[in-house]
Amino acid sequence: MSENLPSYLTISSDLQADLSASIQAINPDKIAVLVDENTKRYCLPELNVTNYLILTIKSGETEKTLATCQSIWSQLTEAGFTRKSLLINLGGGVIGDMGGFIAATYKRGMAFINLPTTLLSQVDASIGGKLGVDFNGLKNHIGLFQEPNKVIIYPQFLKTLPSKELKSGFAEVIKHALIKDEAQWEFLSAQSFDSLRWDEIIPKSIAIKNGIVNQDPREHGLRKILNYGHTIGHAIETHLLKTSAPLLHGEAVALGMILENEVAQKLGVLSSETSEKIRDYLNHIYQFPDILPGYDVLAGYLKQDKKNDKKGIRFSLLKKAGMCTYDVLVEDTILREVLK
Ligand SMILES: NC(=O)c1ccc[n+]([C@@H]2O[C@H](COP(=O)([O-])OP(=O)(O)OC[C@H]3O[C@@H](n4cnc5c(N)ncnc54)[C@H](O)[C@@H]3O)[C@@H](O)[C@H]2O)c1
Ligand SMILES: [Zn+2]
Repeated sequence: MSENLPSYLTISSDLQADLSASIQAINPDKIAVLVDENTKRYCLPELNVTNYLILTIKSGETEKTLATCQSIWSQLTEAGFTRKSLLINLGGGVIGDMGGFIAATYKRGMAFINLPTTLLSQVDASIGGKLGVDFNGLKNHIGLFQEPNKVIIYPQFLKTLPSKELKSGFAEVIKHALIKDEAQWEFLSAQSFDSLRWDEIIPKSIAIKNGIVNQDPREHGLRKILNYGHTIGHAIETHLLKTSAPLLHGEAVALGMILENEVAQKLGVLSSETSEKIRDYLNHIYQFPDILPGYDVLAGYLKQDKKNDKKGIRFSLLKKAGMCTYDVLVEDTILREVLK
C-alpha cells in the first residue's frame, strides 16, 4: 500500500467487509444510501443492503443543487433520521460533494461515508474535504470543508464506468503526477492507456493529492497547484456546456494543461521539449474538438476565476515535470497569443 493516504480512507478489495466494519464503528440508529440511477444499477448490488433507506436522484451535474438537497433532507426527516444516523454516498463526485453537504448540515451534522465510484471521485473529489452544491449557475458556490467519517475506495467499481468517464478521471491522475511526482509521470507516460493498472495507480495518485492538501488544507498557497490545467480548462468547460458539444471535466482539464503549458513556455518557465511531450501524450489519449473558443470568448470566463485578485488572472504553471508554481500573473497579451 502506498504511503501518505488520509487517515479516514481505506483502499478496499473486500467492500462488504470494510463497509460493515466502518458502519459498526459509527454504530448508527438508521442508514440511508444516496445513489443516482447508474450507481443504483451498477454499484448498489455490490453492497449488502438490508433495511437501508435508498435515496435515488437523477445523474448529472445539473442535479447538484439546493433543490435536490431539500428533497433529500425532506425524505430523511420523514423517515425519522437523527443526528446519530448515517448517510452512505454511493456515486461519483456529484453524489460525494452533495451527499456530504447534505449530511454535514442535516441537524447540524450526521455521519457520512463516501463510496466513490468514478475514477475522478476516487483520486480527486474524495480527498480534501470540499463539500457543496452549485448555485445560480456557479459551480460549488455553496458548501463547506469537512472530512467524511470514512472513504472507502473500491477500484472494482470502475469496471462498469464508461471509457470516456474513465479517461476524464485520468486527467487528474496525470495532473497529480505532473505537478508533484516526476517519476510517476515517466511511469504513466511510458505505458498505453489500456495497460494501466488502476489498483496501483489510484493509491499513488491519492497520496500525491493528500500530501499537498495536508500542507495547505484551506488553499492559501501550495494547494493552488492542484488548479494546474483548470484555469483555461474550466473556462473552456463552462463555455462548451452552453453548446451542443460539451466536454467532460477531465477532457477540458487535459486541454487546459496543454494550453497552460504554452503560456508557461511563452513566459520562459517551461521548456518547449516538456511542453511538447505532454501535448503529444494527451493528444494520443483524448479526442479534442477541432475548433476551440478563442480569447475573446474565454476572457470573460477567465476573469471570473476564483483564484484571481484585483491585479488580474492568476495561473498555476508547470516549471518542469513534477514541479509547479502558483499565483503567476499572466498578461492578456500572452493569453491572446495562446488562445488565438
Ligand atoms: N470535492 C472536490 O474536491 C472535487 C474535486 C473534483 C471534482 N469534484 C466534483 O465532482 C463532480 C464530478 O464528478 P464525476 O466526474 O465523478 O461525475 P458524476 O458524479 O456525475 O459521475 C459521472 C457519471 O458516471 C456515472 N457513474 C458513476 N459511477 C459509475 C459506475 N461505477 N459505473 C457506471 N456509471 C457510473 C454517473 O451516474 C454519472 O453519469 C463535479 O461536480 C465536481 O465539481 C469535486
Ligand atoms: Zn479537476
